[in-house]
Amino acid sequence: EQKNDHFLSRALRSYKSMKKRILLGITGSIAAYKTPELIRKLKQQNYEVRVVLTQGGKAFVAPLTLQAVSQHKIYESLMDVESEAAMGHIDLARWPDCILIAPASAHIIAKLAHGFADELLSALCLASAHARFIIAPAMNQAMWSNSATQDNVNKLKERAYLFLGPGKGSQACGDVGLGRMLEPVEIVDALSKVFIKPYLQGQKILITAGPTQEFIDPVRYLSNRSSGKMGFALAQAAIEAGAEVTLICGPVALTPPSKLKFIAVKTASEMLRAVQSEINQHSIFISSAAVADYQIINPAPQKIKKSTMDLVLQLKPTVDILATISQMNLKPRPLLVGFAAETEYTLKFAEEKRRSKNIDLMVVNDVSQANIGFDSDENEVTILSADIPLHLACASKQLIAQQLLHVIAQRILAVKSATQEIIYD
Ligand code: PMT
Repeated sequence: EQKNDHFLSRALRSYKSMKKRILLGITGSIAAYKTPELIRKLKQQNYEVRVVLTQGGKAFVAPLTLQAVSQHKIYESLMDVESEAAMGHIDLARWPDCILIAPASAHIIAKLAHGFADELLSALCLASAHARFIIAPAMNQAMWSNSATQDNVNKLKERAYLFLGPGKGSQACGDVGLGRMLEPVEIVDALSKVFIKPYLQGQKILITAGPTQEFIDPVRYLSNRSSGKMGFALAQAAIEAGAEVTLICGPVALTPPSKLKFIAVKTASEMLRAVQSEINQHSIFISSAAVADYQIINPAPQKIKKSTMDLVLQLKPTVDILATISQMNLKPRPLLVGFAAETEYTLKFAEEKRRSKNIDLMVVNDVSQANIGFDSDENEVTILSADIPLHLACASKQLIAQQLLHVIAQRILAVKSATQEIIYD
C-alpha cells in the first residue's frame, strides 16, 4: 500500500484516469476504409473507443475488421445495444466524452441538423446530453458545397459541433475539390487539442533524439540503430501538453513535428554544443538520443583507400552530454531525464548510470528485445528515480511518451510541494 503511494505511481494513476471515451460513428463514404487505422491511432493515444457502424458505412468496411482493431463489439442497430432496462441506446449515449463521426456523409449531417433518430447513430446523437460532437465530413465536392449541406453544417456549428475538414484534393469519384476526409493522424491530432489539458504549460523542454554519426573519413561513419521515434514522440506529446519544445536531433528519416525549435546535428560534439547553448533557456532536459560513446581520434580528411591490409580505427570516448549538463551547477537546475539502453542487468546498470550522472529520472529500455527500443514503434520501459521503480507496460512510443511526461509533470509538482497533486479532470 505504502509502496503504491509514491509520486511515480500517483502520476500513472492520474494519467489513467484521464482516459477519454470516444464513440466513433462510421457512415457511408469510401473514406470508411481508413477507419481501422483511425481506431488504431486513437487507441495508441489512450482513448477508449466504441464503434457504431451505419448500414452505409458497412458497405465500405467490415464489422469484423472494426471489432478486431477496437476489441469491442460493433453496434449496428438499436437492437444491438443490450441493457437491463431495454433502453440500451440511452445507456450508450451516456457513455462517451465525445461522439466522433468519421467519415460523416452529407446524409448524417442532414439528419443531425434536423434531429432525426431513425437509426442507432442519429438516435445516440439526439440522446447524448453531455458528449462533445466532432464531425469529419467526407463526400463529393458538389455535395459538400451544395447550399443544403452548408446550411446543415452551419446549423450544427451553431450548436457547438466541431468540424474537422473536409480536406481538398482528388476524390474517389474523379472530381477535385473540398470533400476528402482528413487523414486519421490529422483527426487524432485535432482531438488531442480538444482533450489534452495543457499540464506542461509554462515549461520549456529540451529533448535530444536520434543517433549521432562519428566520421571515419568524408564518406564513412560509426553510428547506431536509433530512428529518433522515441524522441519525436516525446516532442509531440510535450507540445500537446502545452510545453515549449526544442528538439536537437541527429540524422533521422522523420519529419519533425511543427511548432517546435528544431536543431539538426550530426556528431556527438555538435550535439553537446547545441545542448550547452540551449540548456539555460529550459526547465527540463530529456536526453533520449543514442549518443555515440566513441569517436574516431583522427578522421581521415580524404576517403580511405581500400587495401588488402587490416584497418585499425583508433577511438576515444565522446564527452558525456548528460553528465556534463548535470555537473554545470545551473541555477535553477533543470529536471534531468536520461534514457538507458541496456541488453543485460537492465535495472542494475541503468541505476548505476542514474547515480553516476546524478540525474533525476532514468528511463531504461531493454534493447536486446526486437519489438521495443531501437527503431520499433513500441517501447516498454522502467522509470528509475530516488523512489521505487515504475514499470510502463509495452505500448506505442506515443503512449510511453505521454505517460513519461505525466510522471515528469508530477515530479515537478512533487518538488514544489510534498502534498500537491495534479488534477487533470
Ligand atoms: O530512436 P529510437 O529508434 O526510437 O530508439 C529509442 C532509443 C532506444 C534510442 C531510446 O529509447 C534510448 O534508449 N535512448 C538512449 C540511448 C543511449 O545512448 O543509452 P546509454 O545507456 O548509452 O546512455 C545513457 C544516457 O546518457 C542517455 O540519456 C544518453 O542520451 C546519454 N549520453 C550517452 C552518451 C553520451 N556521450 N552522452 C550522453 O548524454
